[in-house]
Amino acid sequence: MLEVTDINTFYGSIQALWRVSLTIDEAEIVALVGANGAGKTTLLNTISGLLRPSSGRIEFCGKRIDGLKSHAIVELGISHIPEGKRLFPDMSVRENLEMGAYLQRAWKQREETLREVYQLFPKLKSRQGQLARTLSGGEQQMVAMGRGLMSKPRLCIVDEPSSGLAPIVVDEIFRIIQGLRDQGIAIFLIEQNVQQTLETADRAYVLENGRIVIAGDSRKLLQEEHIKKAYLGL
Ligand SMILES: Nc1ncnc2c1ncn2[C@@H]1O[C@H](COP(=O)(O)OP(=O)(O)OP(=O)(O)O)[C@@H](O)[C@H]1O
Ligand SMILES: [Mg+2]
Repeated sequence: MLEVTDINTFYGSIQALWRVSLTIDEAEIVALVGANGAGKTTLLNTISGLLRPSSGRIEFCGKRIDGLKSHAIVELGISHIPEGKRLFPDMSVRENLEMGAYLQRAWKQREETLREVYQLFPKLKSRQGQLARTLSGGEQQMVAMGRGLMSKPRLCIVDEPSSGLAPIVVDEIFRIIQGLRDQGIAIFLIEQNVQQTLETADRAYVLENGRIVIAGDSRKLLQEEHIKKAYLGL
């Protein structure tokens, strides 16, 4: 469904991604593992159109998307749930969710999609009138994920959803991500929590200094010496 081929991305004269290639199929969870500064967010931003690769190509469902504006990429079915939630603090939960459906295709279905999101996150329904800035960190992350789903994506790219959250909330987020896959939505997931991420994902890529250095079945990666040493502290 998503095919990234040989992309190079720069910030000015500094190269952040080096010939990165990867694929994501329908309804699979693919993890992206890497240390701070490896280029994970840069890669997600390049896929979602916030950054432009200087060379290489990105195709989604057979259509070339590198060079498209980010709203056009959302319209095609890729939803980016950014690092650090980025909610509108003085808008209510419901208003924040509706902002995720602002594009044509999703807007017509927004009432129905909102019901689906409330089914996934029952707590948000009871809090729909509450201002986003007064929510707990975990609740804010739920809103950010719900808002990402309001655009009716076929692929969700999620940047560190569990950052700063308590283990019990993290478990819930992983459960929800698996639920999305079961509904047929593909997930590209960045997470610092490497053990739990590799246990949840189907496949994974490891990014080091802007380059993909390992790719494969995520359970197999859990057994790799380099992964154990560098990312699992074993
Ligand atoms: N706007 C920017 N301008 C210049 N350099 C940047 C910019 N954003 C990121 N970089 C650099 O690009 C490299 C990759 O950053 P990126 O944010 O993609 O890493 P990351 O893997 O997401 O790290 P983290 O785990 O800390 O979120 C880093 O060296 C960073 O300093
Ligand atoms: Mg990042």
